[in-house]
Amino acid sequence: MQLDRDVIERGVELGAQPVDHGDDRNRNAGGNEAVFDRGGTVLGSARCPEFHEAAGRAKALHHLAQREINALIVIGGNGSQTGSSLLAAAGFPVIGLASTIDNDVFGTDVSIGVDTAVNITLEAIDRLRTTGASHQRAFLVETMGRSCGHIALFAGIAGGAEVIAIPEHEVKPQEVAERLGAAYARGKTHAIVVVAEGARHGAQSMMRYFEKHKAQIGFELRVTTLGHVVRGGIPSAFDRVLATRLGAAAIDWLARDAAGMLLGMRGTDIVATPLAEVAGNTRPIDMALLDMARVLAQ
Ligand code: F6P
Repeated sequence: MQLDRDVIERGVELGAQPVDHGDDRNRNAGGNEAVFDRGGTVLGSARCPEFHEAAGRAKALHHLAQREINALIVIGGNGSQTGSSLLAAAGFPVIGLASTIDNDVFGTDVSIGVDTAVNITLEAIDRLRTTGASHQRAFLVETMGRSCGHIALFAGIAGGAEVIAIPEHEVKPQEVAERLGAAYARGKTHAIVVVAEGARHGAQSMMRYFEKHKAQIGFELRVTTLGHVVRGGIPSAFDRVLATRLGAAAIDWLARDAAGMLLGMRGTDIVATPLAEVAGNTRPIDMALLDMARVLAQ
């Protein structure tokens, strides 16, 4: 098997038949039209609780066999790659490609979608700064990240946030209030607090505390919750190139009968990690960056 037009078109055609349902519902969703400028999944694949059970996986293998699909490239986050490792353990050739906005897949520095999600959050921060500076306000911006604070950390650093609150490190509302108060006292016209949705104290809970301690903060306060807006939109150039490189590499690996691996990026190199190692592990965030952000915000 080589990376050529036929392989790509056949892949799109087969991929459009979800393995868990074995039907053709999304057959027209992808076609072989360019998908470079589209986020999400064009195939309609989604979380499948049935796949956690041996019977569900047996059903998936049955559907694959019925359609003469003899290898899969699974593009997704930790849940998807756990599924990949189970299929690989069952002897089915699978290559995993790390794709999640959370950037918590083990075996890669960066997952497909992360750069776009960080930039969407950053754009929101930059826009909120306009109102913040005009009206001497502090904004609490809640972005996605239920158990990983990567988006909040990177967008917070890039957006010059006064405080970044993430699931990996607790920041108490009192500390946030003190830091906002200190920024106000230094004469700042506005302030930004970036909160990951999974932070121990979420944006709403912080606001409840701030309501009672307004005088200490100085700034008028507002909350913006970005939610699933962070996931949508047009993929960045970085994400498009990353996805293209990983997709091409996946075909090469399958052609060499070297399945059972997750392909990711280290520096500028594509690296492979056994799926068995990826499942059950997560990529930690760089806590040194959080420390740096705290120092720079003072
Ligand atoms: O895992 C990616 C992610 O976007 C998390 O950051 C977020 O918490 C979660 O998915 C949201 O999932 P759902 O769309 O099911 O609410």
